[in-house]
Amino acid sequence: MADAPHPELILAPLRGVTGLRFRQAFQAHLTGLDRAVAPFIATVQGPRVKPEILRGIDPTVQPEGLPLIPQVIGKDPAQLRVMLRAMKALGYADVDLNAGCPWPFVAKKGRGAGLLRDERVLGEMLAAGCEELGPGHFSIKVRLGLDDTTLLPKRLPLIQSFPLRELCVHPRTAKQMYEDTVDLDAFARVAEVCTLPLVYNGDIRTLADFTRISGRFPAVRRWMLGRGIVANPFLAESILAGQDTRDLDRFRAWHADLLERYAADAPGDHALLGHLKELWAYLAPTFRRGDRLWNALKLTRTRAEFERVLALTPLTWA
Ligand SMILES: Cc1cc2nc3c(=O)[nH]c(=O)nc-3n(C[C@H](O)[C@H](O)[C@H](O)COP(=O)(O)O)c2cc1C
Repeated sequence: MADAPHPELILAPLRGVTGLRFRQAFQAHLTGLDRAVAPFIATVQGPRVKPEILRGIDPTVQPEGLPLIPQVIGKDPAQLRVMLRAMKALGYADVDLNAGCPWPFVAKKGRGAGLLRDERVLGEMLAAGCEELGPGHFSIKVRLGLDDTTLLPKRLPLIQSFPLRELCVHPRTAKQMYEDTVDLDAFARVAEVCTLPLVYNGDIRTLADFTRISGRFPAVRRWMLGRGIVANPFLAESILAGQDTRDLDRFRAWHADLLERYAADAPGDHALLGHLKELWAYLAPTFRRGDRLWNALKLTRTRAEFERVLALTPLTWA
């Protein structure tokens, strides 16, 4: 009997975290990801997209071996077309639509997860995307709903009436933000009736999580990793190897490289520390006594202080 195909592992878009520099450093030191979805870019008014808005997806600086899918957030089909044309002009054939962002100031305005509320607008956005990119090139990333889990099942017939590349589901409601647990029963109900290629996304933090959740959904082949792979950059590798592949020397090399890449962009220590602290909020719990390390890192004010705290703390995996 032929071996089961490898699961496809996708880097989740985490705005401010899994951007260009993270992806570059990842590919330079780690393996296991098949592709990445870039953090969202908002649609703009007018006929032109300023190049700086697209800097994070500039194809000339993307790392080799990690195909990138840009993501758009918005609610105006005409503005969506403008953005998709700009992305196509950069050479991207595939683009993703954000219908999952839970932040009230986004969702209340009908963008992100708020797109699920208005069936007409959602249909117009999907139609515009599929027309602009062609069948099989537009995709959508969603939550289960806004306040409860009944909305996505209601929207599914509309969503899958379009020739989308895939549907990515993070099985929480927008109201839940990132609290509580993912609702695997609700995901199962979607998976049962979904006719599009389905991506599961949410709370895969360890190989054991992956084994448990993928065991429940053997038909799902596409898995998106977010906070889990930021906290443990070896997660994709470990999933593919079927064992823990964490290695402190490789971790240090990856981290030093990422720090240099952040520093090259940052206008000063303040901006650099902003990036590093955002990263370490995820990384710290991966280490034994990570709370103490995190408390010390949070207090640092300069790059030198930050590096000193790290150098003086013996790192051991939790
Ligand atoms: C800081 C942060 C930024 C995020 N930015 C985006 C984004 O730009 N686009 C998007 O579709 N989802 C975004 N998400 C949601 C993640 O892609 C993902 O759906 C969520 O974190 C759940 O997956 P996880 O449990 O594997 O992290 C973001 C989440 C976080 C925590």
